Amino acid sequence: KIHPVILCGGSGTRLWPRSRATKPKPFLPLVGDSTLFEATLGRCGDPGQFAGPVVVTGTAHLEHVMDQVGQDFGAQIIVEPSARNTAAAIALAALRLPGEAIMLVCPSDHHIGNAEAFCASAAKAASLADDGWLVSFGIEATAPETGFGYLERGAPIGDQGFRVARFVEKPDLERARQFLAHGGYAWNGGIFAFKVATFLDELGRHRPAILAAAHEAVAKGREEGAQFHPDAEAFARIESESVDYAVMENTDRAAMVPADMAWSDIGNWQALHAALDRDEDGNASRGDVELVDCRNVLVDSDGPHVSVIGLSDVIVVVDGDDILVTTADGAQKVGKLFRAA
Ligand code: GDD
Ligand code: MG
Repeated sequence: KIHPVILCGGSGTRLWPRSRATKPKPFLPLVGDSTLFEATLGRCGDPGQFAGPVVVTGTAHLEHVMDQVGQDFGAQIIVEPSARNTAAAIALAALRLPGEAIMLVCPSDHHIGNAEAFCASAAKAASLADDGWLVSFGIEATAPETGFGYLERGAPIGDQGFRVARFVEKPDLERARQFLAHGGYAWNGGIFAFKVATFLDELGRHRPAILAAAHEAVAKGREEGAQFHPDAEAFARIESESVDYAVMENTDRAAMVPADMAWSDIGNWQALHAALDRDEDGNASRGDVELVDCRNVLVDSDGPHVSVIGLSDVIVVVDGDDILVTTADGAQKVGKLFRAA
């Protein structure tokens, strides 16, 4: 069975005012009624394909995780004493699982429209991982995004996937444009399948200090019911680095499975708008909202009645006393407004 490892870290400042430090993006019902975190658990919920999940999170998010994880999931929660990025978070989970286990690392702040396609890609990725590959989910690249990793597609491996000839994390705009024009590159979806022993081998090869300190943090950690608390002092010594830079860019065992699953990282309000069901005029709304003669408008209100008349390509979000009104382009800049309230 596949062991889901669910990462709950970041803050999602670009979805202010809905996403806040106190209740960040994974814990909000942004698409449909489930939160992104609940939907991530649900996608890995078939007991025929998946074992109980391991959730790796920080003390700041623990309360939301415990609220939303539910009782009967058989989940194990690893509570990071400090944030040390994804190489460390994945190492903790790996060190708590058997060496032969296949782990499926899933960010908890993405939307995946097609869960069946996700499960099919997970099955292929797991079989490649079992053969010793470090497998990324490859998403068709449609724009020169600089916030993603890029996978250069290499030779096929059976009919399961491809070698990754080169993994380039977050290129600058110039390079991202070149990759797109050249073709043969996919975005890294941030979902990975690893055999535990292979991942630890490769982490030890490329970042021995991270592996050693993670080892110590786990060895000196303590269990508390379903929670595991790694040793804070050992964990604090870990260098903060993402798995993409620490392992994926350096390994020669990288592979990818193409994943056509209506994926979005919901990086901003415009991306959320695109992931929602829209009416024939491209409008989407939530809450007490009235739209007249509008096109491509998104309105999300948690209370007040909102009327919008005769506008196009506008986003309106009401959250308590905070109101955001912006254009599709302006949505990219919302992170700058973020307040820690
Ligand atoms: N537990 C834990 N601890 N989780 C963390 C930590 C941490 O210290 N840091 C980040 N995470 C979680 C985030 O919550 C998110 O779910 C996931 O790990 C990825 O981290 P991000 O910070 O969102 O990474 P990114 O978006 O910049 O880049 C990654 O994802 C892209 C796709 O969305 C990379 O893998 C890129 O290559 C990829 O294209
Ligand atoms: Mg992200």
